[in-house]
Amino acid sequence: MKVVRAKDELCSALEPLHGSRIGLVPTMGAFHDGHLALLRAARKECDTVVCSLFINPTQFGQSEDLERYPRNEARDLELARAEGVDFLFAPSPEEIYPPGFETRVEPERLALELEGVIRPTHFRGVATICLKLFNIVRPNVAYFGAKDAQQLAVIERLVLDLDLELEIRPVETVRDDDGLALSSRNVHLSPAERKVALALPRALELGAEAERDGGDPVVTARAALSEEPGLKTQYVAVADYAGPRLLAAVQVGKTRLIDNVTLEGTKR
Ligand code: PAF
Repeated sequence: MKVVRAKDELCSALEPLHGSRIGLVPTMGAFHDGHLALLRAARKECDTVVCSLFINPTQFGQSEDLERYPRNEARDLELARAEGVDFLFAPSPEEIYPPGFETRVEPERLALELEGVIRPTHFRGVATICLKLFNIVRPNVAYFGAKDAQQLAVIERLVLDLDLELEIRPVETVRDDDGLALSSRNVHLSPAERKVALALPRALELGAEAERDGGDPVVTARAALSEEPGLKTQYVAVADYAGPRLLAAVQVGKTRLIDNVTLEGTKR
């Protein structure tokens, strides 16, 4: 595995490989099994696997957790190497946003709901970094986790709207045995907070079950969350992100968690 810090170096290294299938796994590091599932899917389906590791400052709001975001590059490098990644692209913020940088991608409707209400500039930052990574790597396919279902929908829209020639491959959410969706931010949860956080996947499952029985998934999930006094519910909603999904965001102590499940969508 080659670790590359400079855009030009990566472009030159990839130049002779463009006839073959190149897969990109964009990440912000602090790898868990969810990231490894993305890397494994890419390794299985592509000739060359590029993983980017960049904590993108422009997708964090001013009051958000950029400083607190977990970092462990040495461990990430080892894990990426073990998964057979060919190029690990780990640029500095200045390499990606040099002085004078001023052009951004502004996704609209999809970026304004749910996460967009709470994090108004988030998807602008995500769409901008993803477009930059797509232009630098020129992958045939890019891999994203379904846990961030709204992000996935924004990226799929970006590819469609800007006529980008790549395929977006969603990879199912990976969960711990207790049901909690893996997220780099889970490391911030104390053991007591982790117990509280389990109310989130439980509520979503109850909502999905209610929907299968002809009930209202949002009302059911919201009621289940309200029984857990240790968390604050930010939203519970159904949205059509490549099919109907029940999505929720909660705050547990200082940690914000999002999760979603698919709905059958037949009885609503
Ligand atoms: O999902 C993430 O980790 C980030 O939003 C992404 C897609 C790597 C862009 O910074």
